[in-house]
Amino acid sequence: MQALIEIEGMAKTYFMDSECVAALADISVRVNHGEFVAVMGPSGSGKSTLMNQIGLLDTPSEGSYLFDGVEVRSLGPDRLAYLRNKKIGFCFQSFNLLARATAVANVELPLVYAGERSAVRQERAARAIAAVGLADRGHHLPSQLSGGQQQRVAIARAIVNDPALILADEPTGTLDTRTGLEILALFQRLNRTGITIVLVTHDLNVARFAGRVLLLRDGRLVEDRYQDPVVIGTEAPNDSAAVAAAS
Ligand SMILES: Nc1ncnc2c1ncn2[C@@H]1O[C@H](COP(=O)(O)OP(=O)(O)OP(=O)(O)O)[C@@H](O)[C@H]1O
Ligand SMILES: [Mg+2]
Repeated sequence: MQALIEIEGMAKTYFMDSECVAALADISVRVNHGEFVAVMGPSGSGKSTLMNQIGLLDTPSEGSYLFDGVEVRSLGPDRLAYLRNKKIGFCFQSFNLLARATAVANVELPLVYAGERSAVRQERAARAIAAVGLADRGHHLPSQLSGGQQQRVAIARAIVNDPALILADEPTGTLDTRTGLEILALFQRLNRTGITIVLVTHDLNVARFAGRVLLLRDGRLVEDRYQDPVVIGTEAPNDSAAVAAAS
């Protein structure tokens, strides 16, 4: 099968004044459609740099990267932006929502960039908001939502274009344990629908919900292991019920 992510000999070097920082060195990894991968490693080990490469936000200094079979280096900025919009959803530790826009308006943003009509945007945003369990909060501003609810809005925004891949950088980093588990249950539920998930975390308690762990150290991939993930409730009606049933 065609891998979703196929990285071969990737390096990323930053030049600062006369210093050169090898943020990534000789990374080779394949991720198939439908995997749930945790990327771990100490601060400064290159996790976010690797996410930026995988998410087509930056280009490598060396090596090749095939995203869904296409060599990223051969693509111009417009095509990269198009692929990011259509095929990748992003989630961050700090949610990155627009403070003055309602939950629904935040979720519609990728569709605005994609040039969708208003009726299509509304219908798809409503569907994504419902999929993360926030149908009754669509008209709230981010400041009127809890941290867990704000992350759900960010996840709804990430899935509104039916992406192949979700990239999440420490998505539970600011949440309490219980709320973090609900977000991880949501990622597992999305993963079961076929979406590939790559999630950065420094927390082993988070990584155990992934089926594969990549460990970075000083920009190098030092470990790549598969594991039986802890599965949070496949039967429960929603993520908080699933967490309650599992704990
Ligand atoms: N734009 C940049 N210019 C110069 N150096 C950079 C840049 N971005 C990252 N680096 C360096 O590359 C290395 C990897 O950084 P990166 O942000 O990927 O680490 P990380 O694993 O995400 O760390 P953290 O857990 O703290 O988020 C670090 O040494 C960092 O200082
Ligand atoms: Mg980082």
